[in-house]
Amino acid sequence: MPSVRSSYTDSLRFYGRHTPLELAETWGTPLYVYNEDILRERCRDLMQLSSHTGYGVNYSVKANANPALLKIVREEGLVVDAMSPGELHLDAMAGFPPEKILYISNNNSAEELRNAIDRALLVSVDSLSQLAAFGRLNAGGRVMVRFNPGIGAGHHAKVITAGKETKFGVTPDRLDEVFALLDAYRLTLAGINQHIGSLFMTPGGYLDAAAVLLDLAGRLPDDALKKLEIIDFGGGFGIPYHKYDGEARLDLADLGARLHALIAGWSAKTGYAGRFLIEPGRYVAAECGILLGRVHAVKNNGDKRYVGTDLGFNTLVRPAMYDSFHDVEIYRAGGVNAEQKPMRQTVVGNICESGDILAKDRLLPVMREGDVLGVLDAGAYGFVMASNYNQRCLPAEVLIRADGAAQLIRRRETLDDLTRCFP
Ligand code: LLP
Repeated sequence: MPSVRSSYTDSLRFYGRHTPLELAETWGTPLYVYNEDILRERCRDLMQLSSHTGYGVNYSVKANANPALLKIVREEGLVVDAMSPGELHLDAMAGFPPEKILYISNNNSAEELRNAIDRALLVSVDSLSQLAAFGRLNAGGRVMVRFNPGIGAGHHAKVITAGKETKFGVTPDRLDEVFALLDAYRLTLAGINQHIGSLFMTPGGYLDAAAVLLDLAGRLPDDALKKLEIIDFGGGFGIPYHKYDGEARLDLADLGARLHALIAGWSAKTGYAGRFLIEPGRYVAAECGILLGRVHAVKNNGDKRYVGTDLGFNTLVRPAMYDSFHDVEIYRAGGVNAEQKPMRQTVVGNICESGDILAKDRLLPVMREGDVLGVLDAGAYGFVMASNYNQRCLPAEVLIRADGAAQLIRRRETLDDLTRCFP
């Protein structure tokens, strides 16, 4: 396709039978575009990490909960989590039966717990008080407990979810109290789980934390270990966001070999015959999604060149919230203007805040009014974190099917959607 910067998506034939210019024209911008083949490939990468019986992948739908994508994930044999009544609703809509949904949330009201229990889900609680609340509602039932292994990881302090500085999980030194509550309410400990944080690019910390969880499982009384059905090590698997710099991928072959050795060895030693799960969100969904937007204005303020787009932080909040990097492609009919050298530019959105920056001081081909931009790796924590801030409507979502055809999987919101909830 003639364009200014698109070698990454060209090499993948990301847009199938379409061009991004055509998609932007047909569906408008901002527009989330997903690629079915890439989503399936990522699911398969993870399903193949271990051949151990009982090994499985629990997709964390908080990364992207569009039911059309969830159906594909289901076809690939993954199970899913839910952390709210809304996620649970979408999981069910995508055809997941209750036994393939784990309710892994925190600080639930009794009503939320009741909803999950009534729908026959296995619930993971992450504090002693939630364990007691669960027991009051479902004495004699099965429950999972989320532990905090004391090892955290992540790309930003806001996404590290284990260690002393976070609200998550029960620390292993409280195991006696966990068992006292399990006894008091005649509950069966059906599973233990953890999640150390989001986005690791080397496997060491994850595997260390997995070993800590197995160590804890090994300390369970014999009869409790016999009844344990699930050990869930959590997610956090990173993806390389610096696509045009050739950033290395997480070495899944190495991670898989070491994880497999760990779980196979531990099962042989303990006789555990239950399931082992990993719980990735980003790894499954990030790379199959691109956010398209359009340049509406360019200007120089002092010596800075600003490229003004419709990609405000209402559409993709990660750069504003975590200083996250997303690579940007540039599409233009007729292609690159060869005499212009790349220059430093800052891509901003249309929200009334100076923090509304998508890409800061990037050395990129000169962008012009009318260009379409593609923000790479936007499939995870993109649409799901989008908002109506400044009363902008949520974008549409389109899926490029395996045959290369585009299918609308969520329509763009309208002004009627904005006013729907006012009495
Ligand atoms: N399991 C639990 C209990 C979690 O809280 C999370 C993510 C996951 C699994 C999946 O983690 P992943 O594999 O996607 O790293 N909004 C942030 C990420 C927040 C992650 C929250 N929990 C971002 O855009 O980077």
